[in-house]
Amino acid sequence: MTMLLEIRGLHVTFHGRRGKEQALRGVDLAVASGESVAVVGESGSGKTTLLRASLGLVPTEGGSVCLFGTDLGALERDGRIRALRRCGMMPQDPYGAVPPTLSVRDAVMEPLLLVNGFRSKEISALKAESLLREWGLPDERIWGARVSRSLSGGQRQRVCGARAMALDPELFLADEPTSMQDASLRGEIVSVLESRVAEGMGLVLVTHDLILARRAARAGLVLYRGVVVERGPTRDLLDNPRHPYTAALARALPRLGKAILPPPGSLVRPGQGCPYAERCERADSSCMEPPVLREVSPGRFVACHKA
Ligand SMILES: Nc1ncnc2c1ncn2[C@@H]1O[C@H](COP(=O)(O)OP(=O)(O)OP(=O)(O)O)[C@@H](O)[C@H]1O
Ligand SMILES: [Mg+2]
Repeated sequence: MTMLLEIRGLHVTFHGRRGKEQALRGVDLAVASGESVAVVGESGSGKTTLLRASLGLVPTEGGSVCLFGTDLGALERDGRIRALRRCGMMPQDPYGAVPPTLSVRDAVMEPLLLVNGFRSKEISALKAESLLREWGLPDERIWGARVSRSLSGGQRQRVCGARAMALDPELFLADEPTSMQDASLRGEIVSVLESRVAEGMGLVLVTHDLILARRAARAGLVLYRGVVVERGPTRDLLDNPRHPYTAALARALPRLGKAILPPPGSLVRPGQGCPYAERCERADSSCMEPPVLREVSPGRFVACHKA
């Protein structure tokens, strides 16, 4: 197994109009070939930032990101481009991700032509068409349509998936890849990801949905306000959550749309102690100390004084 992505102690802070936002606070993530890791957490927990940082697309404040064994920070521009070509990124927003003037087929062909040269047009078109079929867009009438017109959000999202897979990435980063799909297409997309992982692709799957995480990824980590609060096999995270936040996510599943967490309290101020303490029903004065991520059973790590 080759290590594709290794992130250690990653810190990312945004300095925006609302002041300082610590999006990631000491996150570790490792993905080897043929491995799938889900990143789960509520809105704003830092999931997209983690994917973007994996490709060097956000400035980091501390920690390291190694792609294919090389520290991204140490790579020159050409080396970085070569490393990024080995990765596919399916972004969360399918509207901004594909040039709107291109046709569906051209959008998927574009990366192939850029890398293999424009003489490869016929082969690239065939490959693009087969990818589009794989991603649930078999209707040839759609292939010639402009991406900006007459496509639904779900169709655009699948075009983004096919485009991100055009260069047979060794590492695939998928940010909520099924968020706009109906149930049957969700299953199809998960199957595409699963079959690629079986062939050796590494996958990082971002989702807020623990059931999807369990279906599509073997390992998982749970992010809460930029901190990993639990990690382990996704099966265990769903069936036997140890951290109170993971438990709240798991409990919320059958009741989508309902408020899932107790409202913020005042026990611990942000930045001090356990980040989850203010919403945690188990919190007490010991939670004023920040918990460390410790191994509670083989392969299972939890950052909670009470777990
Ligand atoms: N470019 C940016 N500038 C300033 N703040 C940012 C930027 N990108 C993200 N943030 C902040 O960082 C935090 C994490 O954002 P991120 O997009 O990673 O969350 P997320 O887990 O992907 O959420 P969602 O599920 O809603 O997509 C948020 O508080 C967000 O407001
Ligand atoms: Mg996001």
